[in-house]
Amino acid sequence: MEPYQRRSNHFEALFANPKLIWMGQNTNHLPSHPDVKRAMIAAIEDEVYHSYAPPAGLAELRRLILDDFEVSDADALITDGAIEGLYHACRHFIRPGDRMITTDPTWTWPGAFAKLSGAEVVALPIYEADQNYKLTADQLAAAVADGGARLIYIVDPLNPLGICYTAEEIEAFAAIARSAEAYLIHDCTYRHFAYGHTLAYRYYPERTITTYSLSKWLGAAGLRIGALMARPSLLQTLSNGQPNSLGSNVVSQLGAIAGLKAKDEWFPEVLRISRHNQGLIHAAVQQIDELTMPIFPSHGNFVAIDCSRAGISPEALCDGFLRRDIQIRHAGYHTDRYADRFIKVSTTVPTQHTQQFCDVLPAVVTEALASQPATEKHY
Ligand SMILES: Cc1ncc(COP(=O)(O)O)c(C=O)c1O
Repeated sequence: MEPYQRRSNHFEALFANPKLIWMGQNTNHLPSHPDVKRAMIAAIEDEVYHSYAPPAGLAELRRLILDDFEVSDADALITDGAIEGLYHACRHFIRPGDRMITTDPTWTWPGAFAKLSGAEVVALPIYEADQNYKLTADQLAAAVADGGARLIYIVDPLNPLGICYTAEEIEAFAAIARSAEAYLIHDCTYRHFAYGHTLAYRYYPERTITTYSLSKWLGAAGLRIGALMARPSLLQTLSNGQPNSLGSNVVSQLGAIAGLKAKDEWFPEVLRISRHNQGLIHAAVQQIDELTMPIFPSHGNFVAIDCSRAGISPEALCDGFLRRDIQIRHAGYHTDRYADRFIKVSTTVPTQHTQQFCDVLPAVVTEALASQPATEKHY
């Protein structure tokens, strides 16, 4: 069996398990607003899917996304999830021999896409307490000074750690990007969960591309709908060779429109639950000598739990939870350098599920201490 088949089979088994508690992919499993379901059911009843959507996406959705960003001088290009926009931008702007600068840990797929276009990916180490688990402007400036930086990829809030950059830090990153005439991809997938968030676009509109995801705050991961936000002139460049030039899923777009209209009414409760769940996990971790939570509170809908003090294998912890029908993620999904350090647990699940996680945590840690390494490969 090829590795891609093994990986897909792993997720096939998870998908087929109705009891599974999804706490590994920062997806949102809280009940949808009824308007979102109604809009998509009506779209299917009306068979709107016989036509392609407009290539840049439905105008109403694009406008609602810009309103959500509180930006009026940019445009939004609808993509098949933020990931497809990232794929396109990374492939498009990189030329062989260019460098893409990101953090370690980061969300690694954009680096893989940039490599396909011939980039060298430079991942700057940030899982360090003395720099608050954040990229510093000095680190970025030094990497840019080495030359060849064509693309800077910043995930903010950062999956997997939950740190978020201040306005001063974002301004400094933007100035460094401008000094190198580099494109700055500001991956804002988790922006809605942050305690305050600053768009790099405000400081460097010429070459900043901002991602927008509906998978996390709206809980629409399976609908594959997202966007890139940038100046129209930059989106014009990207529209050449756009993979979804026949438009994105129309049913998903109509659901997203309904979701954005209901956001003010619906999302505050999602955020409250997610933050409450974080608190429960934090309290449970504090009871266990072998574990720590280096970043709390997290600015994402997830928390990282450090298990390196006792040398517990993150994958062994994944094993233990999966045996109890709870999926979590190990650091190796995000980083080779820090693969033995932490696990990541999502918090946009019903509180009862978080409680289940907390209840079994001590037993899973005890088992992992006795049974490492992991018996199964986790993705
Ligand atoms: C940092 C980051 N960017 C992008 C994505 C993908 O977003 P989407 O589901 O909108 O494609 C994820 C998904 O986990 C992510 O963590």
